[in-house]
Formats: sequence, structure tokens, C-alpha cells
Amino acid sequence: MMNKRLKAGLCLAGAGVALLSGCAERGDAYYRPIDPATYPAANGPGEKLAPGEVDAAARVAAIIYAHLERKYANVPVRRDAHPKPHGCVAATFTVGDTVPSALRHGLFANPGAYPAIIRYSNSNENPNRPDYEKDGRGMAVKVLGNSEQPLPGAPLVVAPGSAPTQDFIMINFPTFLVAEPKDYEKLVGYNDSPSKLTQWLLPVLVPLSIGVKGTINAVEATSSLIDNPLNTRYWSMVPYQLGSGAEAVAVKYSAMPCEPQPVIIPKTKDPNYLRAAMVETLKNGAACMRFMVQVRTSDMSVEDSRYEWSETEAPFQEVARINIPQQDFNTDAQNAACEASSYNPWHALPDHKPLGAVNRMRQAIYERIFDLRRETAGR
Ligand code: HEM
Repeated sequence: MMNKRLKAGLCLAGAGVALLSGCAERGDAYYRPIDPATYPAANGPGEKLAPGEVDAAARVAAIIYAHLERKYANVPVRRDAHPKPHGCVAATFTVGDTVPSALRHGLFANPGAYPAIIRYSNSNENPNRPDYEKDGRGMAVKVLGNSEQPLPGAPLVVAPGSAPTQDFIMINFPTFLVAEPKDYEKLVGYNDSPSKLTQWLLPVLVPLSIGVKGTINAVEATSSLIDNPLNTRYWSMVPYQLGSGAEAVAVKYSAMPCEPQPVIIPKTKDPNYLRAAMVETLKNGAACMRFMVQVRTSDMSVEDSRYEWSETEAPFQEVARINIPQQDFNTDAQNAACEASSYNPWHALPDHKPLGAVNRMRQAIYERIFDLRRETAGR
């Protein structure tokens, strides 16, 4: 490994972009190779393993780990992405009995009202960033079973210390920023680099690592202002399997308000106005969202989620209603449970297996970062 001082010197010398690859974070101290036998198989509809993908996943996990260890040196580590919650709310995820027959797989083949917990969040890695700054916004749904309405089967992964759940993770933008795992590794390495020069050169390095389309998506996905997380539309960005075996298809998810209201961005200096808006809405009544799936047509890519699947060619179809009853969710106990929770696309029934390189990489990364959060929770 290169001497740290020499490396810092080279960064500061700024002798051209090529040298900066040596200034990117590599997470060497935390690098833990992934055994390909434990890596998700790329055997779903439209899937194909990318060159260097397994190692890129291990490297990204190490880079994020190193970044978080530096950032939260003596305090509990928080989520790397979406660390700022607007709240975790109790909800009911009701699968209707009118789901079109082609979509009746897994949860969507088992009508009934499942208890759920939904975490709404901002995307930015700064947990103190005010809500009035442009950002991406997240909605993570955790569907639980109970004795009356058990989950139909065992999920692929269960979080340590948790009951089995089916999670659906979404953001208020339809497309992701990168297709190739190696490009994503470069992007994360630059982004999480401690080098000031690398940070200063990010506007050049980002397009160099993820190209024009990826850069446009990255900017747009993090540029929204919203009035209320309950009055916002969300997408899964990346695809999931629906069904198993020869019948399996690839789908994306989206959730939207049952009755969208005109969006009026408040003129406020309250940095947490989105939490306040949710508190106000749920103090006075219930909220409702439609949960929908979009089945891809054969020319839509599973591996490259930089491009939206056309809603004209592949319309979203409702499979469930999310009802969020009147409640006071903003309590110390509920906020602590929200922080301690883990949402992971691999908390999924086999009929809803995550698809594509981004999702395959997420398996090891989310598990490792959640372990780090649990290990440091007491410090
Ligand atoms: C390889 C690509 C990705 C990486 C490395 C990544 C990384 C992470 C990490 C480390 C966390 C925190 C996990 C934890 O501490 O429990 C997280 C959370 C999250 N990610 Fe990703 N992510 C990726 C792709 C995506 C995509 C495609 C979406 C689109 C929906 C997404 C949406 C979210 C959301 C909404 C959360 C917060 C979940 C919650 O409320 O707990 N991520 N991500």
C-alpha cells in the first residue's frame, strides 16, 4: 500500500486527473473479499453478471465502511444514505383481491391487510441537512406478517434480531445513476475520498466516472423540494422479480398518494418542516398511498437502470393500498426504533427477488453497514 503522506502529497500536487484515481478512497483497511459462492446468482429475468462485479461490491462496502468510521469516529454510526428520517409511521399494506391474475405472485397473491412500518427520509448523507435544501426523498416500506395475516413464505434475508419482513425501498425519482459496478466503485471512491482536492474536483470526476446520462440522473435525483412526504410519488428505480421459475417477470415498483394534492413548497426556515408536515397530517387524519408494479417489456433493461421504463408501453398497475392511520409517531421510543431499524431490498420473498447489478451489490453492502451501525450503537 502506498505511503499515506506520499499519497496525500500526490493528491495535493494535483498532477492531473489520472493521478486522482490514487486519491480516491479504497477502503483498504476494511476490504473483505466476497466469496462468489455467497454472491446473489444473476439468474433472474434479464440478468447478467458484470465483469468485476463481485469485487466491486466488496470494494464499495469497504469504501463506505471507511467513510462512516471516519465520519462517526466516536459516536453511533448512522445510515450512509438517507440518514435523516422524517419519521417511521405505522401502516397497513392491504393487498386487494382484484389484483390482475398475471401479477398474483408472492405477497400479491395473498390478499389481506398486513401490518407495515414506513420510514420516510432525505437522501443526503448529512443527517442535519435542512429539508428546504434540494435533495432526494426516500420511502422504505417494511411489510410484517402477524398471526392473522402471515407473510406467505420465508424472505431471502432476515435482518439480525428482526422478524421476517418484505421490504420495498423507493426514492422520489425513477432512475438510478450508474449501470456498471466498476463505474459505481469509482464514483463512491471519489465521493467518499478524504482528499480535499478530490472533493474540489468532484464536478469533473463524477462525469468521468459515470458519464453524462448518469450525471444528469444524479443531479436530478437529488434536486427535489417537496411539501410533504405523504404527498409525494416514489419509485424503486431498480427492478425486482415477480414470480418464480419460467413464469418469472421483471417489475419495478412505485407508490403515490391516493389523492395527490397540489404541491405548495412552504416558505419556511424550519429545517425539519417535512417531519412537521407529517405530524400535522397524521394528527388530523389518515393518509393513503397506492402501491403499484410495472411489468417490463422485452426491450427494457434489467441491468441498466439509468433509463426509465416507459409508462406508456408498460403502465403501472395497483396491487396494494397503503393506509397510514391517524397517529402520533413522533415519540422518543418510535424515533429510536426507527434509527435502529434496517431496510434492505433482500428482505424479500423469493417471488420478489431483487434483480440487476445494483441490487446484487446492495446485498453485501446493506448487511455490512447495518452490522456496523449495530456494533457502534452503544458508543
Ligand atoms: C449499489 C447501489 C447502492 C448502494 C451502495 C446503497 C447504499 C445504501 C446504504 C449503505 C444504506 C444504509 C443501509 C443501512 O445502514 O441500513 C442505504 C439506504 C437506502 N438506500 Fe441505498 N444504496 C444503493 C442503491 C439504492 C437504490 C437503487 C435505491 C432506490 C430506491 C436506494 C434507496 C435507499 C433508501 C431509500 C435508503 C434508506 C432506507 C431506510 O429508510 O432505512 N439505494 N443505501
